Amino acid sequence: MTTQEEQTRAGLRFPTGFALGAATSAYQIEGAVRDDGRGTSIWDTFTKTPGRVLNGHNADVAIDHYHRYREDVALMADLGLTAYRFSVSWPRIQPTGSGKVNQKGLDFYKRLTDELRQHGIDPWLTLYHWDLPQELEDKGGWPNRDVAYCFADFAATVHAALKDHVHTFSTVNEPWCAAFLGYASGEHAPGRREPQNAIRGAHHLNLAHGLAVQAMGARRVGGCVNLYAVNPATDSVEDLDAARRIDGLQNRFFLDALLLGRYPEDVLADVPGEIDFIQPGDMKTINAPIDVLLVNYYSRFTVSGAPGGRQSAAAAPTDSGSPWVGSEHVSFVSGGQPVTAMGWEIDESGLVEVLTRVAREYPAIPMVVSENGAAFDDVLADGRVHDRERQAYVEAHLGACKEAIDAGVPLEGYFAWSLMDNFEWAWGYGKRFGLVHVDFETQERRLKDSALWYSEIIRQNRRHEPTDS
Ligand code: FCB
Repeated sequence: MTTQEEQTRAGLRFPTGFALGAATSAYQIEGAVRDDGRGTSIWDTFTKTPGRVLNGHNADVAIDHYHRYREDVALMADLGLTAYRFSVSWPRIQPTGSGKVNQKGLDFYKRLTDELRQHGIDPWLTLYHWDLPQELEDKGGWPNRDVAYCFADFAATVHAALKDHVHTFSTVNEPWCAAFLGYASGEHAPGRREPQNAIRGAHHLNLAHGLAVQAMGARRVGGCVNLYAVNPATDSVEDLDAARRIDGLQNRFFLDALLLGRYPEDVLADVPGEIDFIQPGDMKTINAPIDVLLVNYYSRFTVSGAPGGRQSAAAAPTDSGSPWVGSEHVSFVSGGQPVTAMGWEIDESGLVEVLTRVAREYPAIPMVVSENGAAFDDVLADGRVHDRERQAYVEAHLGACKEAIDAGVPLEGYFAWSLMDNFEWAWGYGKRFGLVHVDFETQERRLKDSALWYSEIIRQNRRHEPTDS
């Protein structure tokens, strides 16, 4: 090992018990969409609708994790992961979204979590990573308040069945995406472009979170948000206002609701239509105490209020509108940093910024970075993927975690997105985020260089843990 490597690795030494894991989600990896009684989700419908997903890809097979979970857990064990964040498929467990429970669906997650625990890997379960049962969408989807109550029932069912198997439950993955990409821009399922319903949906997703936390009663439960560092392009009044708006809708709308039990007044004033969907008691429910905040972080936004710029930080793969309800005029400009294959700017200082901000501006709450990673155009040659850029991305962001911890942030873990290449939503199989390369034809898994490197970091950290813990 060179001195430089030693220094780097010493720099990435985390406190005892710090989780070093990886994340996935059900629809992106499982496949087996018709096996063992699984119902239909909005993503099944969306992917079959022409023009919605690049190249008409769907996740009927995905990376066949439903059948290969043992092999995949063995991979995680080889890498030494201490924790694994995955989501359960609602329609696999409750095929029509309410009522009858499909035991075979629950059994799959029992087998998966048993397997994880046998390998000493902590299962972190996400209840909702965007695969709403189609029947609930047919009843109006997230803009329909009833769906939040269905979600609470679903959460109680999953919690009752798996509470002895799971380390931490979390509720809704990235409610911003579920609401604004699903119901405003239409880039994600169900692909509606109804800005006012997107806000309504966002509130119901928050409500669903709170109701689920209450329904699960016992601990450990968390909520998940995707946070961005947001900068004005200049100090002009327009740009400062643009930054306030995007920060408001992306970050504060969710953080204030979950952690303070209120919505920011300025955001409610920015969005169109009447705010007639917040019922008495809702905000207290949404503010139900949680044990941990899951923060997904990818990039920084630099925004401008001047007319004529780009509508979003990066190109959308399909025809879609603006997710920025009430702030559609805001444009996204380059912050001058290099970008990933998604066109997302690489800026690890933004991660320090969002973590320290939550620690400073909100009541004390332990956090984990529950997703962080990058797509690059990987080249597989002689069975190897020399993905130095991904490694550098993860290394820089782990460094940011370390910096945040040193600044006093109660950060308890890091999950790389993603364990394996998978179905990347509207981009289909066109973007690879995995530490593990997957051949989408043969389903062969191969460790990329970034995986080997990450594994070494985990090993180094384990070496410093007390052996009897
Ligand atoms: C996040 C999603 C995850 C994946 C990454 C790249 O927004 O939660 O499923 O698509 O982005």
